[in-house]
Amino acid sequence: MANQRKTSRPKTTPSLPGRKSATAAAPVRIALLGFGTVGSAVARVLAAAKLPGVELSHIFNRNIARKRSSDAAKHVPGSVVWTENFDDVLNSRADIVVELMGGLDPAERWLRKSFAAGKSVVTANKQLIAYRGAALKRLAAKHNVQLVHGAAVAGGVPVIAGVLQGLSGDQITRVSGILNGTCNYILSRMETGASYAAVLADAQALGYAEADPSADVDGFDARAKLCILSRIAMQAELDPDTVATQTISSVEAVDFAYARELKCTIRQVSRAQLDGRLVHARVAPMLVPLESPIAWSHGTQNMVVTTGRFGGDVVFSGHGAGGEPTAVAVVSDILAVAQRSVAVELPVRRRQVTGEFLAPHYLRFVVDDKPGIVAGIAGALAKVGANIDSLLQHTGHPKHRLPFVVTTEPCLTSTIEKAVAAMAKMDCMLERPLCLQILTIDDKGE
Ligand SMILES: NC(=O)c1ccc[n+]([C@@H]2O[C@H](COP(=O)([O-])OP(=O)(O)OC[C@H]3O[C@@H](n4cnc5c(N)ncnc54)[C@H](OP(=O)(O)O)[C@@H]3O)[C@@H](O)[C@H]2O)c1
Repeated sequence: MANQRKTSRPKTTPSLPGRKSATAAAPVRIALLGFGTVGSAVARVLAAAKLPGVELSHIFNRNIARKRSSDAAKHVPGSVVWTENFDDVLNSRADIVVELMGGLDPAERWLRKSFAAGKSVVTANKQLIAYRGAALKRLAAKHNVQLVHGAAVAGGVPVIAGVLQGLSGDQITRVSGILNGTCNYILSRMETGASYAAVLADAQALGYAEADPSADVDGFDARAKLCILSRIAMQAELDPDTVATQTISSVEAVDFAYARELKCTIRQVSRAQLDGRLVHARVAPMLVPLESPIAWSHGTQNMVVTTGRFGGDVVFSGHGAGGEPTAVAVVSDILAVAQRSVAVELPVRRRQVTGEFLAPHYLRFVVDDKPGIVAGIAGALAKVGANIDSLLQHTGHPKHRLPFVVTTEPCLTSTIEKAVAAMAKMDCMLERPLCLQILTIDDKGE
């Protein structure tokens, strides 16, 4: 040991990426962009946690006086600069910009300026990260700063951090689960017989659903999260606009009764599966076997199941939305950047998307009952080579508006869609048949 030199740790901590001179004594300064549901919860969590070495320095929002006089402002230290001018943040000594405004513009422009000014960014903005995340990551690296977005998928459930830090050593071939709490609230309430319209109205009154619920119920919100997860877990870069979505708004209470008979429930499922250079991806209401973990989440809960070649299935679950759960993820990201923890990065490849899955399907018809209907349906299915597995008809419905169900053996999505298009033209059909994929228990990831 004669040649070993005794070394001691320097008293100063290494700089934050992009930070010129940070000492152990100098706190890491945080600027919040957006003081809404999540932004105000971040201020509350920071105030309650009293984290050493982290200081809220700026809050930016439009019409700032309104925010400054709100109840939420009570948690904000008096030293904080409130501003409605983004340049005040840009030209400040803030080290980390926390973007909680949402939307693509001006968020993207301001993130780019923040990087150029040597500031790292934490964001919960799923649309921005789904569409522009890869390019923004490259730009952040070019400026030697970080872009971290743990809250952009599943709110308070640390699925991004868990996958990056805990599962990067596996080869994940499938991600699936429940990525939209609003849809899960609506569908799990409908299990008890409530109508879609009534539950949606409740969800809006409780603040779970927007006045225009389309981003949630039509699948666009979950699709953005699925694309982020595909990038993180499978290194597959997908164009969100190419991922097929199906609305949950055509699911009716009667579908839950028929699903129960099939030992299933109905959930909005987001799934992406790697298949060579292709990714099979879809966001849609699906029949989920009751014994699948995906059927277990109720209310606004989120659940993600990853399937790895070596490690098998891993399940993440918890509160996927809400100010405080999401703020926990944001503050954890702030701490990670402040403490310079290095996130795992793997090369990402652009992948083509297909909406094709080989699966059994659930078809629900509402017909004006007359002889020959089942023969017509069987004929349309036979024409595309799909086989009927079962036929279910509950009593108690009027014959002039009769809902009944046919399930098929596994067939391709495009095959069943062709048959549905033909069946929709039958005279007896009072509405377009509802066609849902049925997850099989073999699809353990679901
Ligand atoms: N809420 C959740 O549960 C949740 C969960 C996960 C991720 N996220 C993500 O977190 C982000 C914030 O969501 P949130 O629910 O907190 O939204 P929010 O309540 O609407 O808050 C956004 C805030 O940003 C301000 N803002 C928006 N655009 C602005 C602009 N161009 N200039 C200045 N101020 C602007 C808004 O001001 P006004 O009050 O004037 O509109 C509002 O105070 C979004 O990206 C969202 O997708 C939210």
